[in-house]
Amino acid sequence: MGILAEIREDIRAAMARDPAARSALEVVLFYPGFHARLAHRLAHALHRRGVPLIPRGIMHLARFFTGIEIHPGARIGRRFFIDHGMGVVIGETAEIGDDVTLYQGVTLGGTSTRRVKRHPTLRDRVTVGAGAKVIGAVEIGENVRIGAGSVVVTNVPPNATVVGVPGHIVAFHDDSNGAIQRLPDPEWERLNDLDRRLDELRAQIAHLEEHLAQLHGRHHDGQEAPGTAAER
Ligand SMILES: CC(C)(COP(=O)(O)OP(=O)(O)OC[C@H]1O[C@@H](n2cnc3c(N)ncnc32)[C@H](O)[C@@H]1OP(=O)(O)O)[C@@H](O)C(=O)NCCC(=O)NCCS
Repeated sequence: MGILAEIREDIRAAMARDPAARSALEVVLFYPGFHARLAHRLAHALHRRGVPLIPRGIMHLARFFTGIEIHPGARIGRRFFIDHGMGVVIGETAEIGDDVTLYQGVTLGGTSTRRVKRHPTLRDRVTVGAGAKVIGAVEIGENVRIGAGSVVVTNVPPNATVVGVPGHIVAFHDDSNGAIQRLPDPEWERLNDLDRRLDELRAQIAHLEEHLAQLHGRHHDGQEAPGTAAER
C-alpha cells in the first residue's frame, strides 16, 4: 500500500473514532495526532536508514507543535489515531499494531535503562484511555481497553478491560456479539465482606444490650439475675 493511501486511512480513522470530527479537512488542519503521525512517518523512515540526528530533530519539532512526543524508532501500524494528543509519550522500542487509539496524556514508557526492548507492545485495536501509563516491555493483547488513569505494568490478554493502579482486569468483551463478562473486583468483594461482618457484629451487640437491659430490669424488680447467687 502506498504512503498516500495510508495517510488517507489515517484521516478516515480519525473521522470514524472522533464524533467531533466534521470533515477530512478539519482533521488535516487541526488534529495534532494526525500531524504527529505524519512527522513520525518521515522520521521513522530516516531512522531506519540510519540517518543521524535529523529524525530526532523532526520529532522534536513535532513535539513543539503538537505536544506529542514519539521516538522515531517506535513502530506504528495502520489507522493509528491519537485524540487530543497533548502529553502523549511513545518510547523508542514501543510497537503499536493496527487500529490503535490513544487519548491525551498516555505514556508508553520504559522501565529499563539498558538498550533493550523496554517499551510496551500494543496489539491490534487496543484503546488506551486518557492519562493511562503502560510501562515496561509488556504485551497488551488485541482489542484490550485500558481505562483512563490506569497504570498497566503486566501483560494483558486479548479482549480484556483493564482499570486502576496497578491495572487489573475487570471484564472481558466479545466485540463480535457485544457480550461483556464482568469479573468480580477482589477489593470490592473484600470491602463488601467487611461491611456484612460489621452488620452481623452490630446485630449481635444490639442483641446483647437488649439481654443486659432485661437482666437489669429483673434485678431492680427484686429478682435475681441468673448466675449471681452462685457467684456470691
Ligand atoms: C475502561 C473503560 C473503557 C470501560 O468502559 P466500559 O466497558 O463501558 O465499562 P464500565 O463503564 O461499565 O465500567 C466497568 C467497571 O470499571 C470501572 N471503571 C471504568 N473506567 C474506570 C477507570 N478509568 N478507572 C477506574 N475504574 C473504572 C467502573 O466503575 C465499573 O466498575 P463496577 O463494575 O464496580 O461498577 C472506560 O471507562 C474508560 O476509561 N475509557 C477511556 C475513555 C477516555 O479516556 N476518554 C477520553 C476522552 S477525551
